[in-house]
Amino acid sequence: MKIWNAMGPALLALAALGALGTAAAQPGAAPAASAPAASAPAAPYVPGTGTKYSTQGADTCLECHDDESDAPGFSTAAIFKTPHAERSNPRSPFAKGGLQCESCHGPGDRHSDKNAKAKLTTNSQKADSFLSVPQRNEPCLTCHQDAKRNAWHAGSHDRNRVACADCHRLHAERDPVQAKATQADVCYRCHAPQRAEFQKASTHPVRFGLMSCSDCHNAHGSGSTASLARPTLNQTCFTCHAEKRGPLLWEHAPVAEDCALCHTPHGSVRQALLTKNPPLLCQQCHSPAGHPSVARNGTALPGGANGGAAAFVVAGSCTNCHTQTHGSNHPAGAKLLR
Ligand code: HEC
Ligand code: HEC
Ligand code: HEC
Ligand code: HEC
Ligand code: HEC
Ligand code: HEC
Ligand code: HEC
Ligand code: HEC
Ligand code: HEC
Ligand code: HEC
Repeated sequence: MKIWNAMGPALLALAALGALGTAAAQPGAAPAASAPAASAPAAPYVPGTGTKYSTQGADTCLECHDDESDAPGFSTAAIFKTPHAERSNPRSPFAKGGLQCESCHGPGDRHSDKNAKAKLTTNSQKADSFLSVPQRNEPCLTCHQDAKRNAWHAGSHDRNRVACADCHRLHAERDPVQAKATQADVCYRCHAPQRAEFQKASTHPVRFGLMSCSDCHNAHGSGSTASLARPTLNQTCFTCHAEKRGPLLWEHAPVAEDCALCHTPHGSVRQALLTKNPPLLCQQCHSPAGHPSVARNGTALPGGANGGAAAFVVAGSCTNCHTQTHGSNHPAGAKLLR
């Protein structure tokens, strides 16, 4: 499509030159009426934003992009209901001396020309733009490269060429990605498996709009694994499950180390977001041999050869007795029983 747009004028110019050539070869032919158009071959149309900012700011743009327009997306009025249009904020594009629309869309002189190819002369911030993702994001980062985004270039979204505007809607009174109830749907557009995970029986209440992905992740990138919001996985969990942090008299080593040794954060078909059910969960680390809870034959019953273990058989799962999986503060809680 772009190639044809660019080639169009060039081909026309060539055809005109050809016509001129024949006219010149025939003495006495009428002078070519189209001479001015053919005086120089038109250069192919080079996509690019302009070089000069409008002196009228948004007024220039609103001459065409006004409320009267029926075309979808053409009217841009909703931006005036957002923080970006807050004139009293000295850092906003619409503050005194600000570049207004052009602070995000680039210098508009070329685009504002009626004869310009509208889509090839402005930073549309949209996925079908002629500009690369870093070029599209650049104006945003000039204002927003702050503490929350200082890992942007290390994060997997930037590395995978995700643009700010792939998540953000700026010409809308409310930006769906910033609201708890609507955020996940924005993420699911690209993260389909996570949608399925959050439908499982045991899960964090994301699908009810009570929690959002950004409670655990920094979508702008972070120094942590999986762009977690906190420096470690456990610290991320502690922001809400503070009681699991301790301090505890009797810690359970894997809990202090990494919650994900037993839990999967998004969703599980087992209770309590577990990766496996006990006893298998526990037996990944604790040898089944030696602990009587695995004895499932008559010898373990009261009066049997191994009678002392009877109680363990009756209560099949480890957590029926070791209730304090996450550690204990009871003076006699060393075995996580109380
Ligand atoms: C002379 C009329 C006119 C003026 C003035 C004008 N535009 Fe446009 N603009 C258009 C047209 C026409 C389109 C193309 C709409 C389409 O094809 O969907 C467009 C499209 C756009 C797009 C979307 C491009 C895309 O790829 O989808 C942006 C962004 C834009 N204009 C921003 C601006 C800004 C910022 C200004 C002020 C500096 C401005 N416009 C001034 C006529 C104008
Ligand atoms: C803070 C940055 C920012 C400012 C300021 C801004 N825009 Fe945009 N604009 C965007 C982004 C990002 C998009 C991509 C779509 C979206 O976010 O809704 C966009 C999209 C557009 C589109 C294309 C809409 C479509 O759906 O095809 C037009 C036209 C446009 N802007 C015009 C303007 C005009 C006119 C102004 C000034 C009144 C303006 N913009 C101010 C960021 C901005
Ligand atoms: C000229 C500076 C400037 C530019 C350019 C700019 N912003 Fe902003 N942006 C601001 C200011 C100021 C605020 C208001 C909040 C604040 O003071 O930090 C804001 C707020 C926001 C918010 C929060 C809005 C809300 O509803 O709470 C988002 C999201 C955002 N900007 C994204 C972007 C994106 C994406 C771009 C590029 C398309 C962009 N900004 C370009 C200055 C800018
Ligand atoms: C993968 C989706 C995604 C991308 C890409 C993204 N954001 Fe955001 N952004 C969010 C979410 C989610 C929030 C709200 C939660 C939060 O504050 O972290 C947000 C909030 C914001 C805010 C308002 C609160 C704050 O952090 O100051 C600004 C400003 C912002 N983003 C700017 C940007 C800029 C600039 C870019 C591009 C460099 C960008 N975002 C790219 C998802 C995204
Ligand atoms: C436009 C597509 C797109 C959108 C929208 C999007 N992502 Fe991503 N995300 C990606 C790509 C591409 C990757 C890198 C490949 C991968 O790991 O799947 C990624 C990776 C991630 C990762 C893994 C990070 C890592 O370092 O391993 C997390 C976490 C993530 N995204 C969270 C989110 C959240 C939260 C949202 C919504 C606020 C979101 N994404 C929206 C495309 C997207
Ligand atoms: C309760 C916290 C929490 C919530 C809420 C959450 N995540 Fe995660 N997410 C994690 C953790 C922790 C990991 C890393 C898992 C690991 O390394 O074992 C992760 C990993 C990821 C990854 C990397 C691939 C993978 O599955 O391991 C993506 C992508 C992702 N999350 C997307 C999302 C999206 C999208 C949402 C919202 C719909 C979301 N997350 C909500 C905690 C959370
Ligand atoms: C933003 C707060 C928040 C963060 C961060 C958070 N959780 Fe939760 N968690 C909750 C809430 C709220 C519930 C209760 C859900 C319910 O009752 O439906 C919950 C429930 C749970 C449950 C029990 C689920 C069930 O089905 O009984 C487990 C296990 C859990 N979280 C583990 C984690 C882990 C591991 C992390 C870190 C990766 C984490 N949480 C991070 C808020 C959070
Ligand atoms: C050794 C495995 C294991 C590790 C590691 C672990 N948990 Fe659990 N967790 C469990 C089991 C098993 C349950 C099921 C309930 C029970 O029987 O105690 C559970 C239940 C939960 C619950 C829901 C019930 C409750 O006690 O509130 C939350 C919340 C929870 N875990 C959070 C965490 C957090 C946060 C971490 C990391 C600091 C963590 N877990 C580490 C095994 C583990
Ligand atoms: C990821 C490995 C791992 C998993 C899974 C695990 N544990 Fe542990 N557990 C340990 C380690 C390591 C210790 C500390 C051993 C030591 O100090 O000698 C420990 C200690 C214990 C102790 C105290 C032992 C003592 O001698 O004081 C009990 C009881 C225990 N775990 C029960 C469980 C139960 C019940 C489960 C399943 C819900 C479980 N563990 C899952 C690694 C694990
Ligand atoms: C019927 C209750 C019961 C069940 C079920 C049970 N345990 Fe125990 N467990 C105990 C008691 C009581 C002790 C303490 C024995 C002592 O102090 O000498 C103990 C001790 C332990 C110890 C410490 C090492 C030791 O032998 O003293 C570990 C590790 C342990 N159990 C793991 C498990 C695992 C893993 C499971 C599930 C496969 C499990 N337990 C099931 C009651 C139970």
